[in-house]
Amino acid sequence: MGRSKPRCGAPKMSSSALGHHAQNIIDRCRQLARITDVPGETTRLFLSPATSEAHTLLLQWMRQAGLEGRIDDAGNLRGVRLTADSSAPRVVLFSHIDTVPNAGAFDGPLGVMLAIEAIELLNGQSPFAVEVIAFSEEEGIRFGFPFFGSMAATGQVVPATLERRDSQGISVEEALYGFGLRPQNLAKSCALAAETFAALEVHIEQGPVLEAENLSLGVVEAIVGQSRFELTFTGQANHAGTTPMRLRHDALAAAAQWVTEVERYAANYEQLVATVGQLEVSPGAVNVVPGTVRATLDVRHPKDESRHTAVANLLTKAELAAAQRGVWVSAKAMSKQAAVSMNRELTDALQQAAARAGHKARAMFSGAGHDAMILAPHVPTTMLFVRSPGGLSHHPDETVRVDDIETALGTVLEFLRGLRPPDR
Ligand code: GLV
Ligand code: MN
Ligand code: MN
Repeated sequence: MGRSKPRCGAPKMSSSALGHHAQNIIDRCRQLARITDVPGETTRLFLSPATSEAHTLLLQWMRQAGLEGRIDDAGNLRGVRLTADSSAPRVVLFSHIDTVPNAGAFDGPLGVMLAIEAIELLNGQSPFAVEVIAFSEEEGIRFGFPFFGSMAATGQVVPATLERRDSQGISVEEALYGFGLRPQNLAKSCALAAETFAALEVHIEQGPVLEAENLSLGVVEAIVGQSRFELTFTGQANHAGTTPMRLRHDALAAAAQWVTEVERYAANYEQLVATVGQLEVSPGAVNVVPGTVRATLDVRHPKDESRHTAVANLLTKAELAAAQRGVWVSAKAMSKQAAVSMNRELTDALQQAAARAGHKARAMFSGAGHDAMILAPHVPTTMLFVRSPGGLSHHPDETVRVDDIETALGTVLEFLRGLRPPDR
């Protein structure tokens, strides 16, 4: 995209009390969490009815903050605060508003709500335009692959992506049309503005590191790589009463052995995490030997080479566990992302902004995937982490502390005030 480097200039200290703004951010995240596709929990999937309702509420909050909102053809909600010069350099503040099933209120929405609040507080006093993006699909729950929204914004959606289907057999393309969007316009309507010179995602840490060190904030230097697979163990369904143990081809017994091997392997491999998060047993009856098991595998490591080695070994282990029972196994790659470094200058500027606002921010890497890893190769990007009490995330009890949000908001304001667009 040929963008030039950001300059980070002299700051203006923030002295305002931000406590009630922090509380407003939290209240809005909790209000959004009540908009759900599944009553009684927070589950908001890509292009779902709840997402449409969430857009309506967010558009209202964006308008109040002086942002002009629109939904692009990937279902990303975008609000822009332009300067008098419509081709002015632009900063993007972003995160996502889709969730995992039975989610908490802050994974994703925090970065969007904090961005809206910061823009309202900045009140147009910046030498650049600002865009807030609530990406549509970061988690990858509905179609089995993550980052659709940010991939569309960076021109990475290929035709095969649009053909993927959800559990109801609906393709991405059909779902986009069903939401009133035009997939044929993805490239044009979603591309990040060429004037974008800096991008920042604020996100909860989703882990225990900041809490263990009694810190509110972290600046992210890199995001680990991840690979996701779907495995199918195919054995033979049969009668649970009449099929002797030695004559069975039990797909679940093979998958279960493999699951414990995945856990043991990752536990003994420095910095590796590997998770089997989903198992679907078929036909799934008390008196039937399981015939088929579908299992997911998620593997992450800071070094791509180590991740590739681990993936190869874990898939071999699946074959061995299956072969012991006369079961057949196949594996389909669902997605993979290389480890990505954040922009050095912006990350340093973020750390300095925290210091100017009176806070210490620890440099760290992210074990979770984020839209920032999709944007970073295309536009200078950095991330600010906020402490996750109890290290808890992807769980309804996920929470934040109001003093940490105040700290994060003060840091983001300081960062924006110190940011200078590149010379044109
Ligand atoms: C997203 O939260 C992920 O890291 O899976
Ligand atoms: Mn998440
Ligand atoms: Mn997230």
